[in-house]
Amino acid sequence: MTRLLPITDDSLSLAVQTLAAGGLVSFPTETVYGLGADARNPKAVAGIFNAKNRPQFNPLISHVATTEAAFALGMPTPSATALAAAFWPGPMTLVLYRTNDCPIAMLTSAGLDKVAIRVPAHPDAKRLLQLFNAPVAAPSANPSGKISPTRSEHVMQSLEGRIDLILDGGPCESGVESTIIDCTGPTVQLLRPGGITTGQVSAALEAAGLSGVIDTPSESNRPASPGQLASHYAPDATLRLAALEADADEELIGFGPVAGQGKLGLSLSIIGDVNEAAANLFDMLHRADAAGCNRIAVAPIPEQGLGEAINDRLRRAAAPRDAI
Ligand code: TXA
Ligand code: MG
Repeated sequence: MTRLLPITDDSLSLAVQTLAAGGLVSFPTETVYGLGADARNPKAVAGIFNAKNRPQFNPLISHVATTEAAFALGMPTPSATALAAAFWPGPMTLVLYRTNDCPIAMLTSAGLDKVAIRVPAHPDAKRLLQLFNAPVAAPSANPSGKISPTRSEHVMQSLEGRIDLILDGGPCESGVESTIIDCTGPTVQLLRPGGITTGQVSAALEAAGLSGVIDTPSESNRPASPGQLASHYAPDATLRLAALEADADEELIGFGPVAGQGKLGLSLSIIGDVNEAAANLFDMLHRADAAGCNRIAVAPIPEQGLGEAINDRLRRAAAPRDAI
């Protein structure tokens, strides 16, 4: 049975007990809801893969309460130190080499010698991590390949009966997942665009006296970050991008001057604000899916600020399904 509880001192201590016993707890972060388990406990982490039907080679992000705790798990580099100072706590994940005594289970990192670590800013996530006082592995709390959850209802709808507890902290503020940066090499690599833009990352590196150049992994490196799989964020409906008009039987999700058309009339942001659009993105795809739309179209989104991450998600969602 899955319990859905508002966040209180009692539900937080139940969450800590559940994690310590190897159970699964969904909790809000400022990006999306995570599906958490004790990152040190491979059985608990296997439970995440099972609940999500996730391919086992997909490594997970470990969440901790402080930068100090993060650098006890992954070895700091100059770029990691600069980015942590600029963006933690917040929607950024750093990929670092494991420390010698890193307690994160190998299953959590899918056998890789690098670990992905995040210090979230959401106050309830922070309280949970402080109380648990150990790394919590948490992918987004959705079945593998489906839309990420930005409300507790999304988690309940797709994972009820498969997880122990959902902490309800209301809707997530940002709506797109964290930016993932590999800091192990001479220049940093962008593994996934997200809540912190590449412009912000370059500026923070340069402010620390480092190179602001950001590499993107070559095709041959791709399997190291399976979140880059072409069709990772798929609604059930087919998706057409950069649409100005709805075709017959199509639900058009609007943005800015392009108004929503169809039975729902949704717009990611009537005023053309990419931050508002990011916060609405997964919720509106969920709603169009839930309303039984077979064909969804989305208005053009500018490739600026969080528009980078939105377009990345939309391209994956629109990719042919056999690309998985
Ligand atoms: O905002 C977020 O990042 C959310 C919240 C819950 O924190 N989490 C999230 O996790 O999006 P997930 O598991 O859905 O995405 C994790 C991504 C995957 O694409 C995975 O391949 C990549 O991180 N990743 C994890 N560990 C890695 C590693 N050692 N090397 C390269 N990529 C890694
Ligand atoms: Mg995900």
